[in-house]
Amino acid sequence: MAVALVVAAGSGERLEAGRPKAFVALAGRPLLDWSLDALRAAEVQDVVVAVPRGPHTAPWAAPPGVLVVPGGATRSASVRAALAAAPWSEEVVVHDAARPLVTPEHFIATLGALALADCAVAAAPVTDTIKEADVHGVVTATLDRSRLWAIQTPQAFRRGALERALDVDDAVLAAATDDAWLVERAGGSVRVVESTPANIKVTTRHDLRVAETLLADRLPRPPAA
Ligand code: CTP
Ligand code: MG
Repeated sequence: MAVALVVAAGSGERLEAGRPKAFVALAGRPLLDWSLDALRAAEVQDVVVAVPRGPHTAPWAAPPGVLVVPGGATRSASVRAALAAAPWSEEVVVHDAARPLVTPEHFIATLGALALADCAVAAAPVTDTIKEADVHGVVTATLDRSRLWAIQTPQAFRRGALERALDVDDAVLAAATDDAWLVERAGGSVRVVESTPANIKVTTRHDLRVAETLLADRLPRPPAA
């Protein structure tokens, strides 16, 4: 049985919404709740949510059965705090509350791919040309796009691999923009599971508007009068 760790403890500075991002309204509900819906639909029963310390989450209430823990100073520290609260599961799927358009299939597919690797991450093929430039803006390389993936969450892990990966100094944790990188540097195997660009990360006001539009396409329309 898998446990889901949803990290929602960030402050959401770039969104500038006056409250932590996970609790900002998206189509009338907190951002976080959309991911919890998808987990429920995927029949992942055990869910731990890492939230900011202090009273920032009011008036949000955790759905029945969802365990809430205080997050850490960095994203991966929040993952570590949530993992420590769920010592029973052999498979762990980590998800950012900042990706409210996640679907049940994302969770099912990444967990399913654990048969083949220590870690499986949702990822979309890159459609832009990606170049590398030096500090002066001079291009030093153009990467082979056919082999590049934009990495998202969910990211599924065999528990031992994630525990080993997170057993590092706080400075290394702070440098990690995803947990799969920590598995890579610990020598574990990581696979990509193809996703779509629609599973966007909400970072700015612009992203929130895009997410509203994409969600509106998904929700049932009221019957015509
Ligand atoms: N996160 C977390 N604990 C932290 C930092 C981030 O749980 N100490 C979570 C966020 O809540 C989010 C995810 O990690 O769901 C991805 O982080 P990001 O998009 O950077 O969100 P914020 O850190 O909240 O935003 P910002 O960087 O703009 O402040
Ligand atoms: Mg952040």
